Amino acid sequence: MIQIPMRPAVSLSLAFVLLLLSLHLHAILPCHAATTDTLSPGQELTGGDKLLSSNGRFALGFFQTGSNFSHDTTNPELKWYLGIWFHTVPKFTPVWVANAENPVANLASCKLLLSLDDGNLVMPSSNNRSSTVAIWSSRATATATSTAASLLDNGNLVLHSASNASDIFWQSFDHPTDTILQGAKIGWSNATGLMIRRRLVSRKNAVDQTPGLYSFQLLFGHGGHTSIVSMYNSSDTYWSSGDWGGRYFSNIPETVGQTWLSLNFTSSEQGKYIEYAVEDPTVLSRGTMDVSGQMKVLVWFEGSQDWQTIYTAPNSQCDVYASCGPFTVCSDVPSPSCSCMKGYSIRSPQDWELEDRTGGCARDTPLYCNGSSAAAGSEHQADKFYPMPSVQLPSDGRSVGTATSADECSVVCLGSCSCTAYSYDDQGGCYIWHGRLLNVRQQGNSVLHLRVAAKEVQGISKTSNRGVVIGAAIGASTATFCLVFLLTIWMRKGKRHGDDAQGGMGVIAFRYAELLYATKSFSEKLGAGSFGSVFKGSLSDSTTIAVKRLDGVRQGEKQFRAEVSSIGIIQHVNLVKLIGFCCQGDRRLLVYEYMPNGSLDSHLFQSNGGTVLDWTIRYQIALGVARALAYLHASCRDCIIHCDIKPENILLDGSFTPKVADFGMAKFLGRDFSHVVTTMRGTVGYLAPEWISGTAITSKVDVYSYGMVLLEII
Ligand SMILES: *[C@@H]1O[C@H](CO)[C@@H](O)[C@H](O)[C@H]1NC(C)=O
Ligand SMILES: *[C@@H]1O[C@H](CO)[C@@H](O)[C@H](O)[C@H]1NC(C)=O
Repeated sequence: MIQIPMRPAVSLSLAFVLLLLSLHLHAILPCHAATTDTLSPGQELTGGDKLLSSNGRFALGFFQTGSNFSHDTTNPELKWYLGIWFHTVPKFTPVWVANAENPVANLASCKLLLSLDDGNLVMPSSNNRSSTVAIWSSRATATATSTAASLLDNGNLVLHSASNASDIFWQSFDHPTDTILQGAKIGWSNATGLMIRRRLVSRKNAVDQTPGLYSFQLLFGHGGHTSIVSMYNSSDTYWSSGDWGGRYFSNIPETVGQTWLSLNFTSSEQGKYIEYAVEDPTVLSRGTMDVSGQMKVLVWFEGSQDWQTIYTAPNSQCDVYASCGPFTVCSDVPSPSCSCMKGYSIRSPQDWELEDRTGGCARDTPLYCNGSSAAAGSEHQADKFYPMPSVQLPSDGRSVGTATSADECSVVCLGSCSCTAYSYDDQGGCYIWHGRLLNVRQQGNSVLHLRVAAKEVQGISKTSNRGVVIGAAIGASTATFCLVFLLTIWMRKGKRHGDDAQGGMGVIAFRYAELLYATKSFSEKLGAGSFGSVFKGSLSDSTTIAVKRLDGVRQGEKQFRAEVSSIGIIQHVNLVKLIGFCCQGDRRLLVYEYMPNGSLDSHLFQSNGGTVLDWTIRYQIALGVARALAYLHASCRDCIIHCDIKPENILLDGSFTPKVADFGMAKFLGRDFSHVVTTMRGTVGYLAPEWISGTAITSKVDVYSYGMVLLEII
């Protein structure tokens, strides 16, 4: 009966390798040689069997997701799912899950077969073959007595007539989970005779495949308007593509002419849907409603052996509804992070580590109002308010017209046990909030007065570190990996802490896809510096740019944004201007103004092929670089020691005006400099002796390097 070949035991070594390869998810995949893409009548798929699409790209079988997060290793509650994944990709990536809400505890009871009753695909529970009490079933109504199931080359699992493969009764593309693949649709479609609504739903967390709260779907408004929206709990829209106008959705015109992604809306008798298409069929790509609530388009890059995010919607993590959960503050700068409000602690640190923040934070000390019996004794005191400045208020506040001063407003709030915060300002008046506080963001200039137990406010000085802010970078992988990256970067670059940075004024955040387009897929290389390669590009307004791709620098997003923010505010005629940056997934790019005459070294040292500079120009360069250093050392707001002055870092514009590059990569003046010595930068020859002798590093190290450059100029 069973024609699909099987291998018995789970290969432990394979499991171990996979465990190392994946950050969020790992699969313990049984070793197995699949030979077929079709499950025929009478056959069944058990334990380690799988169907393989004929092009080898997708596999259907049973998989287990697990966690490699430190404290979770003792957790044996890893369950089995029936699903489809990318078979050619070493990083385990499921694209569809059948029994997401009903995982199976042990592999031995995993089985997939074609029901003898009605031809449906069934995962029977124990030995009962009926589809009605199944763990999972395709539940197609119009089936033939003899059916077969095939895994197609595009990753679609179809249930069809055994005698005619075009006669389709059910397909997995009609029931997507969090992922859309090339050729799949979102919206309404009647491909199998039934109008089926397809939408993407996030997973609960990086391990648990249970549907989460974020969805990505088509919305049909009044008057024939159609848009794509991201929703929270099927009710709150936090992102919209805008209406379809015939060629593109109004808020995302950038999707027109994209080779990586096209979103075409179709309205016909077959349905109303958008189809996900990628021009190059050899590219492995997927659109995924991420656990974080961001819709992401990812492409597999062979070079880095990883998925790279090329598009996200919304662009900012803090724009996602309830992104950090209740009683948290979401912050975009210097990098997206969530922190608990004063007097609150993370409800479930384990869920947070798995990027599921729906639980948010919980109050440490009960309020006097509803917790008086718990806090019995001498601590009986009315609740206090803790002011949270510079925040964007949650939108669901209730206006209290009767309160005409901040004091009156606070009294109204104290009068209700469910009131958790108030805000008051002369123009807007009094607002109070009941219950959980969602979507508070570190942005703007409003003040939210958070209600806390009196004890919390009194104890600020003593307990300021306890449970106040436990920042967690969104999208951060495991703590271990981060630590290794951060250490590496610290050792290499001697960087300042992220909290030094203010907002990056006027610095544009580019999407990776935009820079790909601007640089024609990084086709014109200008040079390779200490941190990566530089490519020439052109923006849509025909500004020529130099894009520095930080190759191999797997810098944490927080640090990166901090660096960008602090560099962005430094501007001088003799400093290369930072126009923007891109920080998407693992990609780190800096966008600078383009310098047509290259770097000084190519002109000083003839072997590099530059033109010979005359004395006027040499003088002008010497003066310009000195001005730039004087500015960095003394005049700009946060004094900066360059630490790496050398001809390669002095660029020349069209009229040979010098512009110093790579500044701001060193620590700010006045911070712990003894450690900087150990992370010595610069190039031997231009390095001041104090780098080696261990005496204090001052701005004079730049003066020394400048002196060496001056000698070379002469
Ligand atoms: C197979 O099924 C398709 C779709 O139902 C139908 O159009 C076609 O005529 C069938 N072919 C045969 C040989 O029965
Ligand atoms: C989601 O919505 C349902 C029904 O509207 C509600 O009962 C549930 O509490 C909501 N869940 C969350 C986490 O907001």
